[in-house]
Amino acid sequence: MDDIIILAIETSCDETSAAVVKNGREVLSNIISSQVKLHKVYGGVVPEIASRKHIEVIQGIIQQALDEAGVGFDKLGAIAVTHGPGLVGALLVGVSSAKAMAFALNVPLIGVHHIESHICANFITHRQLEPPFICLVVSGGHSHLVEVKDYCDFNVLARTRDDAPGEAYDKVARVLDLGYPGGPLIDQQARLGNDEAIDFPRAYMEDGSLDFSFSGLKTAVLNYINQQKQAGNSIVVEDVAASFQRAVVDVLVNNTLKGALDNNYDTIALAGGVASNSLLRKEIESKGRDAGLKVYYPEPILCTDNAAMVGCAGYYRLLKGYRADLTLNAHASLSL
Ligand code: KG4
Ligand code: ZN
Repeated sequence: MDDIIILAIETSCDETSAAVVKNGREVLSNIISSQVKLHKVYGGVVPEIASRKHIEVIQGIIQQALDEAGVGFDKLGAIAVTHGPGLVGALLVGVSSAKAMAFALNVPLIGVHHIESHICANFITHRQLEPPFICLVVSGGHSHLVEVKDYCDFNVLARTRDDAPGEAYDKVARVLDLGYPGGPLIDQQARLGNDEAIDFPRAYMEDGSLDFSFSGLKTAVLNYINQQKQAGNSIVVEDVAASFQRAVVDVLVNNTLKGALDNNYDTIALAGGVASNSLLRKEIESKGRDAGLKVYYPEPILCTDNAAMVGCAGYYRLLKGYRADLTLNAHASLSL
């Protein structure tokens, strides 16, 4: 079969990214322009600022991706783009660019689901990995436990009933004055603290579902900090970070293992920004191994939002015959 080279675009949140991917798993370039500095002063992503910045940089990023890959427009076999879920104004920038290029070049246009692309990041890091497996997708906006039955064939086993874990990390980091984005900063502080110092709650559903909930934990951390301040006690940031992180990771790991074992999977994968978390990686690896499971996670750069993972997902969609037409639209919410 001839090589299939895909140009992929990702603009669902605050990263403008374009990548060139060969045959699904070979990344020829993956340019990521992060807007984090712009949003930092607001303590979170401001949608209007995100959209405007995507528009400013997208063409340059696409050109950079093609240049770095040494690939001209004439070599492209398809254009893949994230079309949801995400910030609708941000998504629209990528979707419009992709539609224009697919139309001008007369090549297939492929719409990719953001969570599907996060899962596919594993295929790039682990060339031998094939479905079926179970994947925990955890990021700033998502917390999904997904059965990956085949390429492009998913079943969501569990999801968060309130906040995503990344959201909880970012909020807790804010009240601890650690900065933004909070995940990596809490991860760093937690390594210096005692994770048994404070007994924060772990939310497990009473109905036997593997759904997640992190808002109670978030509130418990905020209450603890306020109580300590009111009592005139100093707060040991490292201990709060370590105890909070331990509570998040305990639930993520236990529910993922249970999901895998109950449904007869022998392989677990992680994906999404929170999959960079050092404790989550360590725990799922050791507990997974103890349970006889194989464990995979993408390299850190492929855990954050990036277009290479979109190119990988787009490739498998292309092989299965999926094509979008020029009515492809951006969707703030989109089911998997
Ligand atoms: O996947 P991603 O780049 O964007 C979304 O789709 O949301 O994930 C970003 C999220 C942020 O909430 C960030 O704080 C979190 O991932 N994150 C982490 C770590 N690195 C990034 N959370 C915990 N530990 C980390 N090391
Ligand atoms: Zn993401």
